[in-house]
Amino acid sequence: MSYFLRFISSSIGKKMLAGATGLLLCGFLITHLAGNLLIFKGADAFNRYAGLLEANPFILPAEALLAAFFLVHIALALRAQWENRRARPSRYENKQMEGGRTPGSATMLLSGIVTAAFLVIHVRTFKFGDKSAGLYRLVVSSFGSPYYSFFYVVAMAGLGLHLSHGFQSAFQTFGVNHPKFTPWIKAAGLVFAAAMSLGFASIPVWAYFRLGAN
Ligand code: HEM
Repeated sequence: MSYFLRFISSSIGKKMLAGATGLLLCGFLITHLAGNLLIFKGADAFNRYAGLLEANPFILPAEALLAAFFLVHIALALRAQWENRRARPSRYENKQMEGGRTPGSATMLLSGIVTAAFLVIHVRTFKFGDKSAGLYRLVVSSFGSPYYSFFYVVAMAGLGLHLSHGFQSAFQTFGVNHPKFTPWIKAAGLVFAAAMSLGFASIPVWAYFRLGAN
């Protein structure tokens, strides 16, 4: 077996790859949010940004890589969870052993499932939706629906919960565990989670209340 296959067959290998892809996806979230916030500048700025992205010759390979990151992250995180659960003596004992559980760490599987379900619906609506009147119109008219906007806000709460633990957990997996740095990494994870969650959620809230279904 090659070194790489042996590495990802091991529990720590899966965790490390899940952590690495998770951090790369955090990078995507930052650029995606920055681009999406252009919607506040109006239709022209937002559609111009979307046009620039589409015209970029690297967009197809970048999208393929992004899809691979999501798939690897989800598959390995699920596998590591399943192996962890199998290895535990009992859920009760485990709860006794683990100190410092947070809402984020206690709900990683659930918040991950919510985010993955969100992603499928999101990409279907915006990536493969009707863009004939421009991407701005598609986004704004989708958020004209109270159900769709509400769904986004709930999903972004789930994303925030996921990031609040996932960000710092990736660093722990890589062995960055130091009394001096760990509190800062945890704080940075919380700030990052709040910024992503509130930043993304601000768009449907704004579109729904400011613009209505026009
Ligand atoms: C209010 C929040 C969001 C808005 C307004 C938004 C907007 C968009 C739009 C307009 C597209 C289509 C781009 C195009 O076809 O050119 C898109 C694609 C995408 N979005 Fe979002 N997004 C939001 C949140 C998120 C979040 C939280 C995630 C990840 C958890 C995400 C992941 C993606 C992915 C993976 C794609 C497909 C990228 C591609 O293949 O080009 N989005 N988004």
